[in-house]
Amino acid sequence: MQILQSPAEVQKITREWGAPVALVPTMGALHAGHLSLVEIARSVAKRVVVSIFVNPLQFAQGEDLAKYPRTFDADVSLLREKGVDLLFAPEATEFYPRGFSTKVHVSGLTDSLCGASRAGHFEGVTTVCLKLFQVTSAQFAVFGEKDFQQLRVIEQMVEDLNLPLDIVRGPIVREADGLAMSSRNRYLSPVERRLASRIPEAIKAVHSFGPDAVVRDVIEGARRLLGDISVDYLHVCSEFTLRPEGPEVLLSKILSPHFFLAVKIGQTRLIDNTPLHGVTT
Ligand code: PAF
Repeated sequence: MQILQSPAEVQKITREWGAPVALVPTMGALHAGHLSLVEIARSVAKRVVVSIFVNPLQFAQGEDLAKYPRTFDADVSLLREKGVDLLFAPEATEFYPRGFSTKVHVSGLTDSLCGASRAGHFEGVTTVCLKLFQVTSAQFAVFGEKDFQQLRVIEQMVEDLNLPLDIVRGPIVREADGLAMSSRNRYLSPVERRLASRIPEAIKAVHSFGPDAVVRDVIEGARRLLGDISVDYLHVCSEFTLRPEGPEVLLSKILSPHFFLAVKIGQTRLIDNTPLHGVTT
């Protein structure tokens, strides 16, 4: 596995390969969820590139940029074992040189859910992803469904800008108790980790609501199971609009209804989501 920092070098090498490239963009602190995305990448393209870059553009003031977990050596070993062809790990100063002044903004899909409380976050994500797509000459890029809003925003950007690549979705990978794998799970103390297992309980419970349930049933069901955990949001949205639906709306009236949750346990913000069994009318 080659490890490169220079965007120009990566662009040159991936173009010279002349073979389909699948990219897995990450911020490192890799876990089994990331490795499942690497396996998906391997199944769709001859060459697999992984990027590790803790992207300063997507962290707002007061968020966890400085303390975001960095486990580079362990990440490299895991990626070598997976047979990744190239690891792109740029320095922020080279990736965003002085004078860097472009941002990509997807409107609509970024207004709700995490976009409502994380100002500028999705602009940072779309900007870095577009750069990563360009630099790695990717024909495929694999994103996990755990960050479902991120996935939808990137799909929209690719469609709107006619980018010549396919976005491939990777299912959520869960711990034994069902907690969605996330680099941020490392922040949880043992007590907080036990509390976090209420999240998959809530996800499992709402997943079983049928088309005759209304949004309020789903939200209240989840809230009951979360107990005293601090909630940022609980919403049911169509996966196409990501606009929160009102409490009286029947799931059967929502096109691909999807449940979204964001909570805070101690200092750690965790998100999860699941499709609901609505019937498309
Ligand atoms: O999901 C992530 O880890 C990041 O948001 C991404 C897609 C690598 C962009 O920095």
